[in-house]
Amino acid sequence: MSGVELSHWIMSKKTNFCGLLVMGCFFSVFLFFDGKYGNPSMYEMQPSAALLESKKNNTTADKKQPDSESKDIEKILNMQRELIIKDMQGYEYPNGKYNISASKLEDLVMENNGTPIRSIIVTTWRSGSTFLGDILNAHPADFYHFEPLLAFDEIKIRGPPLAEKALKLTTDLLNCEYGDLDEYIEYGKTHSLVFHHNTHLWKQCQAHKGLCYNHKFLSAMCKLFPFQSMKFVRLRLQVAQKLLAEEKLAVRIVLLVRDPRGTFQSRKHHYWCQPHPDCSDPALTCADLISDYKVAVELLKKYPTRFKVIRYEDLSLDPYKHVEELYKFYGLDLHPSTKQFLDSHTKVKKGNTMSTFRNSAATPFHWKTELTFEEVEEVQQSCATAMKYWGYVPAMNATHQKEFNPVKEYLLKL
Ligand SMILES: *[C@@H]1O[C@H](CO)[C@@H](O)[C@H](O)[C@H]1NC(C)=O
Ligand SMILES: *[C@@H]1O[C@H](CO)[C@@H](O)[C@H](O)[C@H]1NC(C)=O
Ligand SMILES: *[C@@H]1O[C@H](CO)[C@@H](O)[C@H](O)[C@H]1NC(C)=O
Ligand SMILES: *[C@@H]1O[C@H](CO)[C@@H](O)[C@H](O)[C@H]1NC(C)=O
Repeated sequence: MSGVELSHWIMSKKTNFCGLLVMGCFFSVFLFFDGKYGNPSMYEMQPSAALLESKKNNTTADKKQPDSESKDIEKILNMQRELIIKDMQGYEYPNGKYNISASKLEDLVMENNGTPIRSIIVTTWRSGSTFLGDILNAHPADFYHFEPLLAFDEIKIRGPPLAEKALKLTTDLLNCEYGDLDEYIEYGKTHSLVFHHNTHLWKQCQAHKGLCYNHKFLSAMCKLFPFQSMKFVRLRLQVAQKLLAEEKLAVRIVLLVRDPRGTFQSRKHHYWCQPHPDCSDPALTCADLISDYKVAVELLKKYPTRFKVIRYEDLSLDPYKHVEELYKFYGLDLHPSTKQFLDSHTKVKKGNTMSTFRNSAATPFHWKTELTFEEVEEVQQSCATAMKYWGYVPAMNATHQKEFNPVKEYLLKL
């Protein structure tokens, strides 16, 4: 579905209110999914065709001869190729739009020397990115590299010596080259989170034990997909921008920003965050917000079609507009599966729809009532400049905090 069709879809909702209600519910699960220990979504649990088949015929798959594994791999890849062809029916190829020349599937498929559409989200913990990532990955032809830097632990990567290692890993993943990634694959053996947001891969991991630790399979599988997405909370923009500089990768990056007061209210509830200064110290987080801002100003000039900024608050307050813009920016289309993903995530919270709607509209602003003024002040003292840059208004006192609108326009200009 193109942007125009998306707006038709939106308009076809009975009323604006009805539509907002749906999107409101859908954004209310943002934060729910944004933890380090996010739950697998329902759609990730559907059994794959391969799993059903191997259950029906569980004689060959489990008593393997040495080269029967490569036959299995060939079978899975063939099946996936066909699925992708089917899933891409109806996709409107950019054909020059969004500065992407692809006009047919092969143009986007790495095993045919094509260049996939690579979409990246750069953000920090508790900023709504897991859900945004899942929206991108809801397209059935997406291969999702979820938090490739999980093994680096709860730290920010701002420069050497870790930056080089992180960039090598992410570039290899974006190129579907798993040959050098033993450490990453090894980590995935005990941390299924590495793979389980990657819908198609995870289906195969569950159906065929060991396959997901086979770098040849990982590379071949990855190279079939026309859309590749990735999200980071650990890599700062000053490092991530090196990915933009690699013309051949042709990545598109969205920087997702959130009001630090909301971020810290949310992080308070996560025990894993507290021992790590990069996660729990407002001064460090806000220094990152400042540095991200300065880099963003430059990147907008340098890569107007490949770099974009979005604030979590804006996204939540006007989700239709922003989801449509994001899809256009990435050159994606709103596949029926994406719509289904939205629908299924809105149904989860059906119950008392009115209160859900109100709650979700307020989600980015819970901190106004849940933090004391002293707590807010503590963040504000470390974050005055960052907040000024990103258009967040300081609260003056406890009464003001509860009543004011903390968000205003911002200008990406130094
Ligand atoms: C195949 O059968 C074995 C036991 O005979 C079982 O452990 C395994 O889980 C089965 N595999 C599938 C994919 O059903
Ligand atoms: C089951 O395995 C046999 C022999 O390995 C194969 O010929 C047959 O096609 C398989 N059946 C299915 C449903 O995959
Ligand atoms: C479009 O893409 C080409 C090649 O990737 C690049 O050189 C050019 O600057 C891009 N144009 C815009 C407006 O971003
Ligand atoms: C709280 O701050 C607001 C906005 O600056 C101000 O108008 C109001 O008088 C203050 N209230 C108190 C009790 O200080």
